[in-house]
Amino acid sequence: MRALIIEKNGEPSAVVQSCELPEPTPGPTELRVRMLLSPVHPSDLHVIRGRFARQRQPELPASPGSEGVGIIDAVGSEVPSSRLGERVVLLNVPGTWREKVISPAARAIPVPAAVSDEDAAQALVNPMTAWAMTMLEHELGRGDWLVQSAAGSTVGRFVLQIAKTQGFHTINLVRRHEQVAEIQSLGGDVVICTAQDNWPEQLREAVGGEGIVKAIDCVAGRTGATLARQLAPGGRLLVYGALSTHRQTEPAAFEMPIFAPALVYSAAEVRGWFLYLWLQRKSLLESGEGLRSLLEQMAAGSLRPPAARRYHFNDALEAFAATERAAHDAKPLLAFAES
Ligand SMILES: NC(=O)c1ccc[n+]([C@@H]2O[C@H](COP(=O)([O-])OP(=O)(O)OC[C@H]3O[C@@H](n4cnc5c(N)ncnc54)[C@H](OP(=O)(O)O)[C@@H]3O)[C@@H](O)[C@H]2O)c1
Repeated sequence: MRALIIEKNGEPSAVVQSCELPEPTPGPTELRVRMLLSPVHPSDLHVIRGRFARQRQPELPASPGSEGVGIIDAVGSEVPSSRLGERVVLLNVPGTWREKVISPAARAIPVPAAVSDEDAAQALVNPMTAWAMTMLEHELGRGDWLVQSAAGSTVGRFVLQIAKTQGFHTINLVRRHEQVAEIQSLGGDVVICTAQDNWPEQLREAVGGEGIVKAIDCVAGRTGATLARQLAPGGRLLVYGALSTHRQTEPAAFEMPIFAPALVYSAAEVRGWFLYLWLQRKSLLESGEGLRSLLEQMAAGSLRPPAARRYHFNDALEAFAATERAAHDAKPLLAFAES
């Protein structure tokens, strides 16, 4: 079988190679998935460069890839043969950029027929992040308010869709004026552009009362610091990214100066949030239920991943370039076989 692999960390265009590997055989409780599509996320490129969370850096050589959809084409002795031919997404099985992937049977979650391969391939990383932070960590309910930065990001757009179905309101930060009308049209109740010098005052006014009660931030730097400074007594900010630092190459932009008095006097909380740590702490039953629920929402049409563009895995370099373009409109997916 063909596989994309890295033997050392470096620039994706230099270190990702396509190679022929022996076809793997599933162990007793495992199954084998013939991959159809697997996305290229910015975090996959961080892994290739060796800049991702240490616990997610694979031992090399390894295939990158963090999620995807495929068809079960072999099962271990303890897995029902009725699963052969099932279309599944993989729940936290790294190394998906290969034609055949071995997965524990319980981590291969069936995909409803109404969900396209393109949508299924993106069902885990960004939708689960948006769902877990809003519904499970912040426990947002009907009528609550959430402040989010980078509202135009994929995660931000999932948050807007979840807000619609779950009935909470959003105050959204974007960095370009052109995005204001778009985020409003997606249901953002308040949209503030951080290109305006007085955006912190606009935010304070929009939030009102004693300040921000619940917020999520993936920009860090000055944006994250401003959100932290405006937290209400007992307010909570989840920091889940650091987009201020382009491709993680500007260490200073990782810094997020905290104004201590605001934090102390409000006994507020600024906490990191990382999907893979969250998944590790949840039981497989619980995270599997979460992923099934996201797939059902996709089948019902209430959760829609961004448009996708397929790249044959031989053209992976083009997919990497598309992932890194500043304003990309389609999620690059590596295609391993015809659907
Ligand atoms: N912690 C976790 O477990 C977890 C899980 C999933 C994602 N993430 C993180 O979530 C973030 C968003 O991911 P994504 O895949 O949704 O991103 P994405 O779709 O690639 O979108 C990035 C968005 O961020 C905006 N942006 C980029 N740099 C910015 C900056 N310096 N200041 C303000 N806005 C900026 C972009 O605005 P323009 O349109 O103006 O370019 C774009 O709207 C990333 O940092 C990712 O690593 C974290």
